[in-house]
Amino acid sequence: MSVSSAGAQQQTADIDERVAALLAQMTLAEKIGQMTQRNASFGNPVDYLGDRLRSGRLGSILNLADADVVNELQRIAVEESRLGIPLLVGRDVIHGFGTIMPLPIGQAASFNPDVARDGARVAAREAASAGINWTFAPMIDISRDPRWGRIAESYGEDPYLTGVMGAATIEGFQGDDLATPGTIAACAKHFAGYGAAEAGRDYSATYIPENELRNVHLRPFKAAADAGAATFMTSFSDVNGVPATANDFLLRKVLRDEWGYEGFVVSDWDSIRQLQTHGLTENDRESAFQAVTAGVHMEMEGDAYFNHLESLLTDGEIDIAAIDTAVRRILRLKFELGLFDNPYTDRAALPAIGNEDALAIAKRAALESVVMLQNKNAVLPLDAQQLKSVAVIGPLADKPYEQLGTWVFDGDPTLSVTPLSAIQQFAGTDLTVRYVEAMRNSRSRVGPGFDEAVAAAAASDAALLFLGEESILSGEAHSRADIGLPGDQVELVRRIRETGKPVVAVILAGRPLTLANIIDEVDAILFAWHPGTMGGPAIADLLFGVASPSGKLPATFPRMVGQVPIYYAHGNTGKPPTAETATLIDDIEEGASQTSVGNVAYHLDAGFKPLFPFGYGLSYTEFRYDNIALSANGIEPGDRVVISADVTNAGEIAAEEVVQLYVRDLAGSITRPVRELKGFRRVGLAPGQTVRIEFELHTDDLAFYGRNMQLAAEPGSFHVWIGGSSEADLQASFRIDKSR
Ligand code: NOJ
Repeated sequence: MSVSSAGAQQQTADIDERVAALLAQMTLAEKIGQMTQRNASFGNPVDYLGDRLRSGRLGSILNLADADVVNELQRIAVEESRLGIPLLVGRDVIHGFGTIMPLPIGQAASFNPDVARDGARVAAREAASAGINWTFAPMIDISRDPRWGRIAESYGEDPYLTGVMGAATIEGFQGDDLATPGTIAACAKHFAGYGAAEAGRDYSATYIPENELRNVHLRPFKAAADAGAATFMTSFSDVNGVPATANDFLLRKVLRDEWGYEGFVVSDWDSIRQLQTHGLTENDRESAFQAVTAGVHMEMEGDAYFNHLESLLTDGEIDIAAIDTAVRRILRLKFELGLFDNPYTDRAALPAIGNEDALAIAKRAALESVVMLQNKNAVLPLDAQQLKSVAVIGPLADKPYEQLGTWVFDGDPTLSVTPLSAIQQFAGTDLTVRYVEAMRNSRSRVGPGFDEAVAAAAASDAALLFLGEESILSGEAHSRADIGLPGDQVELVRRIRETGKPVVAVILAGRPLTLANIIDEVDAILFAWHPGTMGGPAIADLLFGVASPSGKLPATFPRMVGQVPIYYAHGNTGKPPTAETATLIDDIEEGASQTSVGNVAYHLDAGFKPLFPFGYGLSYTEFRYDNIALSANGIEPGDRVVISADVTNAGEIAAEEVVQLYVRDLAGSITRPVRELKGFRRVGLAPGQTVRIEFELHTDDLAFYGRNMQLAAEPGSFHVWIGGSSEADLQASFRIDKSR
């Protein structure tokens, strides 16, 4: 055992001892108090929470971000309550605190865990300086429906990518030791399946077969548990008939018994009392019973536990062990955070919000998160030497707040550098920049600004359109049934197109959008998500070729919303479509028989392909993939195989590429997806440079829950691909043979 792991074990033993000693002194009322969390976002919380703290009947608050007030509440808890137990102070620090990083979906597009880790580290320090010691992030719900507004907060559609990014985020928030100033506890949410809301309508029910739940939705949560996420949050939604907050299969069978998770579980906002609204229980008392027996340890902003746990215990309906387990876990986190030794925030000891380091990290994150979807005639990068003028047009060119995206309670829009100001700065005096907002917001209709915009484009050498969605169009409870560009943006694009000038669309949005109706109207598209504080400078660098785009799509872009759900890791079906068999509506001959149009899995009007696939993203250079090779063609369970290929920068500029590894298990006891991401690596290559990239897979990496619901890699044949998107075509094969 190393000295440091021996030290960590000793620390854990010490904490366990201190927890046990404290628990032994607690009254039932004090224990139940620890299991409750209240909102502290209005008025002066000292007035309405002070007495509850003094009587030791409150374990946590949320939504307070003011170090002085938090310090005062901590002082009351520590000095004026009988046992002096400090508070957990929770807040939604989702993608930054004051300095805002790109949306999580944007960070996922970087395919770079360092982006997530560094961003979370900055967020933790800034949040800690406001008295916060617990964030409700990362959100690792698999999101395969872009109508769902919360796809913005997710890492997209893929379990592996989500697991890697989620784990890195947790490491960034929590650091190596939660007691270090500037680290905060993370919360993996929403356990589980929330992203599968019917029709992408937030809060709607989800129906997910157990194999699918385990193989897709639970995988990132397992990665989060393994990464040491201090807490988990249940989801609002009903999962197969049992809302997540009372779902004993998820909370007891999987999380506690199978995974041995030792952190604590918090409900979502009032989601215990909502069990009645769902129609699971008849009253709050029953709701408290179901939640506590399922394994929810703390109630967020509700009073079902506060009002009913005591009588449930005295009436013998629950056992004291359920309460002691919850309190033990909550206290353990408070000890781990070092709150018993120092509950106070020393703002001066933490770095200032929006400092240079934070802004540099935000800029790099934004740079790596932008995905270039199209670049006809290499219109990008713009040549600042050649151009005399550019028109900057659109509702999102100069909106310091909107570029931050959803969940930015504490985001400081005065730190934002907008695309317009970054372009102006880049242009200096040599390049004329004509700015026309054209639409007040992304939902505006045709107005006088349209003519002004056309005039500006006509007078300039190129038109840069900043389109998309304002921040309020995505996020919690902000789902859309139509995911096209809102308002009259498409009309604006058409009018600008008529000027005949090169048109570049830079799209800021919280979700994949359907862009088929503008794709032929613009030359280039940069999809920037909501890129955060430093979105402007990152976009300017990409537009003018200071850097090459390197983001890749973490979620499939449908052509039409009716294709949803559409994702790369789908089942093959018994009738997979091909370009030859899928006849499109306009190609159907009159009088054709029913069977002559294909008899395959596709839509007559949309075909079978998305507009842009998962993993896709262009660069200013070309990358070539060759010479795929395997260390072995046959391996046995427990073995590893190394898959390698050459990646060459075949163009003329240095750039980064995200090299991706996909696998298909050709036959399984349950059918397997046509491709699954199993590895990725971001590499920088000089012009002409070739590197050999190796990925190592253990047979455990190929394991899945099969027909018998056991996790195992099944013998048989596998295809592997290495390339720059989920449509990579450089392929090899290997087998897992039965152990001899
Ligand atoms: C409800 C959201 O679902 C959850 O993600 C968030 O952390 C809580 N509210 C607290 O704001």
